[in-house]
Amino acid sequence: MDSMSFVLFGGTGDLAKRKIYPALYNLFIDQKMPKSFSIIGLGRKEISDKEFQLQVKQSLQTFSRRALESDEKTQAFLESIRYHQLDITKKEGFLDLLNLVKKRELELNIPENRLFYLSVAPELFETIAFNIKDSGLGTTKGWKRLIIEKPFGRDLKSARDLNEKLSKSFNEDEIYRIDHYLGKPMVQNLEALELANPVLQALWNNQFIANVQITASETVGVEERAGYYDNAGAIRDMFQNHMLQLLMMTAMHLPKNVTTDEVRTEKRKVLEALRPMTKDEVTSHVVRGQYAAGEQNGKKLLGYKQEPGIDISSQNDTFVAARLWIDNSFWKGIPFYIRTGKRLKEKSTRIVFEFKNPMQDDLYKKRNELVGPNLLVIEINPSERVSFYLNSKNIDGKIEPVRADYLANAADQPEAYELLVHDAIRGDAKFFAHWKEVELAWQFVQPILEAFEENLTPLHSYKAGLFGPDASSQLLAEDGFKWWLDS
Ligand code: BG6
Repeated sequence: MDSMSFVLFGGTGDLAKRKIYPALYNLFIDQKMPKSFSIIGLGRKEISDKEFQLQVKQSLQTFSRRALESDEKTQAFLESIRYHQLDITKKEGFLDLLNLVKKRELELNIPENRLFYLSVAPELFETIAFNIKDSGLGTTKGWKRLIIEKPFGRDLKSARDLNEKLSKSFNEDEIYRIDHYLGKPMVQNLEALELANPVLQALWNNQFIANVQITASETVGVEERAGYYDNAGAIRDMFQNHMLQLLMMTAMHLPKNVTTDEVRTEKRKVLEALRPMTKDEVTSHVVRGQYAAGEQNGKKLLGYKQEPGIDISSQNDTFVAARLWIDNSFWKGIPFYIRTGKRLKEKSTRIVFEFKNPMQDDLYKKRNELVGPNLLVIEINPSERVSFYLNSKNIDGKIEPVRADYLANAADQPEAYELLVHDAIRGDAKFFAHWKEVELAWQFVQPILEAFEENLTPLHSYKAGLFGPDASSQLLAEDGFKWWLDS
């Protein structure tokens, strides 16, 4: 792995503290960092290197998935870190930064490989990317890469504008767009589940599957992010990115060689085959919801409109469910149901495959025994688990569902950011969103955004602490299905 400089914009921010430093530290402990590396944290405040290293140490103590190693190892990691005060609107600041980056490259004898991580508000992406180029920071004898976090725009047009601006300073193959769902170990495992298991591979299509249900439910509400969330809603915050990424990862079909380009091409094909909706069709296939006051474990919960910072007349969506169709030979004719929402009953991200059930009218029905469909359940979060629901006889000789189970040991699992940062350092973009995916996702979502904005789609209220609006169950009932595992 190439030695490199890791330049972190937003180095004193929340994401840096919670995720990025712990990721770098755990990679270091696991000997997954390059032999030599320099980390430079950037921020607006004036802080000395020593003070900054102490702050990083504190964030490791609070957020690292494992306890700090011996003082010596931790110290070695901290000593690779420098702090630089930067006003990102001033070119001179970038020239000073260039001097620091070069000084560290010389001290550590590392080539000019530079990874720029923009852990800042997206409004700043353009200015930073421009100044990286303009100051010469981006003119390297080695490689350069840019990591950015969502949101990539707020609709199709703004996403295209942003991409055009970034592409003046970085090529597509230098841009690593993080969607942290792609870093979740069970999401990365989907490809192996399908490819390394001939049984599943044979069943992974419309011949055997009746429908697929992708859920990302959260118990948290809007929290302290009213300003952002009230302008984004579940559709921009979760659906356009995480949910459609899960859909692509679930529905893609892979050739035997799983290379970055092939994975990205196959993912793209899923979105290209996604049946577009017109603005007028949105109401038939998409349910929009907003939480009202409710209760969770005996605790009273505020309604969305009563949350601090939210306008009492807000029409924002905190829940979205949708029925999608992928019109290709693998999936034609079977619905994919997707839902995500805040203030629901449980925190659970999962994919459920419901298999067709030709037994229904058969022998067992005549004997008045209920034979449910087989289910394959892939739990992504909080537990990482694969279960098969089969029918089996109980001691009374009656058929009942049993669950064959594999539960991963969560303590051994690296965090999403660890896997993604490691990939970016190695130059593997397989689990990052390609511009084409982002663009196609916005293209699909655009009529939904418009239907919501123009209030063409009703805003269903749902009680906090339950499973979302009734209309979401109705959507499946129309096709003779139900959401599995809501209990
Ligand atoms: C973020 C969203 O991208 O994902 C948040 O902005 C959401 O609103 C979070 O809570 C969910 O992530 P996870 O990993 O907890 O499922």
